[in-house]
Amino acid sequence: MPKHIEPIQSVKGTRDLLPPETELWQRVEEEARRVFQAYGFREIRTPILEATALFARSVGADTDIVTKEMYTFQDRDEESLTLRPEATASVVRAYIEHRLYHEGGLHKLYYLGPMFRRDRPQKGRYRQFYQMGAEVLGSDHPAIDVETIEMLVLLLERLALQEFTLLLNSVGCPRCRPEYLKVLRRALEEVRANLCADCQRRAVTNPLRVLDCKVEADQPIIERLPRMVDYLCMECRQHLEAVKSGLQDSGVAYQDVPRLVRGLDYYTRTTFEITSGALGAQNAILGGGRYDGLSEMLGGPPAPGFGFAIGEDRLALAVKEAWEKQPIEAPRARRPLAYIAWMGDAALGAAAKLARELRRQNLSIEISYQPNKLKRALGTASKIGARFTVIIGEGELASGRYQVKDMGTGQQDEVEADPGKVAAYLHEKTAKREGSNPATGERT
Ligand code: HAM
Repeated sequence: MPKHIEPIQSVKGTRDLLPPETELWQRVEEEARRVFQAYGFREIRTPILEATALFARSVGADTDIVTKEMYTFQDRDEESLTLRPEATASVVRAYIEHRLYHEGGLHKLYYLGPMFRRDRPQKGRYRQFYQMGAEVLGSDHPAIDVETIEMLVLLLERLALQEFTLLLNSVGCPRCRPEYLKVLRRALEEVRANLCADCQRRAVTNPLRVLDCKVEADQPIIERLPRMVDYLCMECRQHLEAVKSGLQDSGVAYQDVPRLVRGLDYYTRTTFEITSGALGAQNAILGGGRYDGLSEMLGGPPAPGFGFAIGEDRLALAVKEAWEKQPIEAPRARRPLAYIAWMGDAALGAAAKLARELRRQNLSIEISYQPNKLKRALGTASKIGARFTVIIGEGELASGRYQVKDMGTGQQDEVEADPGKVAAYLHEKTAKREGSNPATGERT
């Protein structure tokens, strides 16, 4: 008896994405890239590992992300490294490191990839999750905010997502925020004793964070606290008004949410989130805003910025639900165009060659390397959804003609035993089915 070996499981809060879910993710990513590129964004890829100080300085030393959620470790040479919890800080670091500002003008960059936060896992919240984000560096014009939000709404519409709400606020700037913080601190002193333990601490260390507390019992108290929008300086007020009227002009509906301060410290002026009714508690599919001082905080030149990150795990959940409700073709498991069934050792070489040549033409081909009887091979071909089965047995080798069976109609034709001829036959057959993709036989 072999000794029982305990299987190793994935780490808590991480998960495997399996087909067909990966196919849905691919479609979401393809659409995102298309829309981002149409708006002039180009891809940036930054490392997953960064110096810990990068996030302490940008996201904020007293935020939940930095104090509780980062995966931080000492490297062998004692340097403190962190698995990135978000990518805005990395993009701005790269912008400074490669002196992209020398080129002048706007830099519009997008990214896709995993982020890490050691939060309590639940539906829509993972310790390794994925973001698709974009950043515009080099302008503080409100039209940038409007255009970027408009692009997001277009992406959600393209993905056929319907139930979503844009929440909008301004968190002011270093000129007007200190005055508001003074007022907020004073108001918090009076109610502090009735707040949760975290908020009692935040009321002293980072009072703005009290506003995005999620504890139910704190909500009526938070609702009555002073609001940043009432303390905005002239410039911040004008910026907010310009963003709102720009959104109205682009036909984008929004909701004013004076409490929307978001969980990262680098924001100035515009902050926003889009929530989806389909998601339950973790309902923010994306969030973002303006961060005009971040470049300077990281030792760079003045470079106002605006951006967002979509939580891809959450977007995929919402999209899946939307597609199930609508007459939109949800991604099915990809079906191979042809299955190659060979019988007898002598046929194996010809079958492998045929598979190789057809695949070189980007045709989706399956072949088994287990010897099989014809009946069983045809069973496998139908099980995997192959459109055609190419049959190569001793008879076919001798006659120099393969049998090609259409698995849908049952019709069987003889085709010359030449990969080029088989490819031409499959192309012709699939082209006849109007609008179908010759690579897979799928309708496009
Ligand atoms: P964030 O709000 O921390 O912003 O994250 C953006 C989105 O990532 C959230 O709305 C959510 O959909 C998703 N997300 C966050 N944490 C998790 C998690 N544990 N599991 C699953 N999804 C999650 C940022 O990260 C900023 N960098 C956005 C930004 C870009 N602001 C300006 N530019």
